[in-house]
Order: sequence, then C-alpha cells, then structure tokens
Amino acid sequence: MDKYIVGNWKMNNDLSDIEGYVDYLNNNLENKNNVIACVPYTMIKTFADTAKSTIGTGAENCYFAEKGAYTGEISAKMLKSAGAEYVIIGHSERRQIFGETNEMISKKIAAVLQEGLKVIFCIGETLEQKDDFKAVLSKQIVEGLAEISDFSNIIVAYEPVWAIGTGKVATIDDIKAVHAYIKEELSSSFNVDLPILYGGSVKPDNSAEILALEDVGGVLVGGACLKAESFAEIAKSR
Ligand code: PGA
Repeated sequence: MDKYIVGNWKMNNDLSDIEGYVDYLNNNLENKNNVIACVPYTMIKTFADTAKSTIGTGAENCYFAEKGAYTGEISAKMLKSAGAEYVIIGHSERRQIFGETNEMISKKIAAVLQEGLKVIFCIGETLEQKDDFKAVLSKQIVEGLAEISDFSNIIVAYEPVWAIGTGKVATIDDIKAVHAYIKEELSSSFNVDLPILYGGSVKPDNSAEILALEDVGGVLVGGACLKAESFAEIAKSR
C-alpha cells in the first residue's frame, strides 16, 4: 500500500491558492494515491471540487455533535457534504491551544467515523513529557480510541509536539522506537494494526529517510505543505 502524504494547511493560504496548488500536483505527481490536503473549513468545497478524485481532501477538526446550538462549530456531516473525506482529530494545537481532552477527542473520532469519513488521529508528547513518552502516548491512544469498535477508517499520526514547526526532527532511531511502541500498544490494547504517520518538521530534505522506515505509514506535513512545490517533492520521495 502506498504511504500516506498528508498536508495540514492549518490557518494558512486562501481560496485563490487552490487552483494553482491542485494543478501543480496534478501536473507534477505521477502517483497521487494517498496524497491528501487538509485545509481550512472555508476551502474544503472548492478544494474537493477542484481536486476531484486526484488529491484527497480533508478537514483539520470538527465538533462531535451532529447539529444544534453550538455557535461557530461544524459537524462531520457538514464536512462530508462539502466534500471532505478525511478529518484530522486531536492535533496537538487543538489539545494545547483549545484545551481538547482525550475524552472530547474520542467523541470526535466516533462522530467522524459515524459519517463514513476517515480519521487522522494525532498523538504526541511534549518536550517535558519526552522521557515519559510511553505512558503519555498509551493514555492518548487508549482514551482516544475508547469508543471505537471498527478501526478500518483510522490512521494514527505520531507528532512529537517539540518537533512541530520548530525545525527539530526526531532522530531516525527515535522515530523507529516510538513507532514500534505505538504499533505494540495498538496491538495489545485493540488488536489492530493501523497506518502510523510521522509528523513534525518533515521537509523535502528529510522525508525520504523517514518514509523509508517500515513502521512509518506516511507523513503529516505542516509548513512544508503550504507550497505545492515542496509538498510534491515530499510526495515524490516515498
Ligand atoms: P510542521 O507541522 O510540519 O510545520 O512541523 C506538522 C503538523 O503540525 O501537522
């Protein structure tokens, strides 16, 4: 199976960037399987309509209720109707800046799966938690997936918080060790073997080495996905 190349635009770019971005990827990537861009809510429909079936479209978050009095929130059903196929849940920026807990994240994952969308479930330890990463990741995994019985639409993304947007990449040995640990935890707690992406300062000059690792199912890319040129280079390096 082709490894996943997932971009996370965060709160960047705008509608006027989409056509050129998609055109560039379509013209420069032979293999567009599992290449996905997760974009801000207001850009999902245009991105999905422009990319059609070539590049996957995802959202960066959603709320767990289906509808109702939740001013400013958006449901998985709404994302689906706009054309999203994937939703990132539990990104460390959601956890840290917006106070999302494992309990909320587990409800969000269940809501996304309920709509038949795929979840990109983010986990990761902070710098202070680095020595204790096993306990931190296990808790995030066990509590985050607590409500799930069908795992077929779940992709895990390991993103050490200290490596996000900092230019500090985990070493290859660190990535190997942590991915092996996550694989073991998923197997012992839920008896599943899921794709595990790595994220945190992935760039065209380090992606090939990371993507070559057996337990790495792909990459989740922030800063280096904003320009189609560097995102395409990363996708080509798998
Ligand atoms: P970065 O972000 O590639 O800019 O470090 C990754 C992410 O937060 O998903």
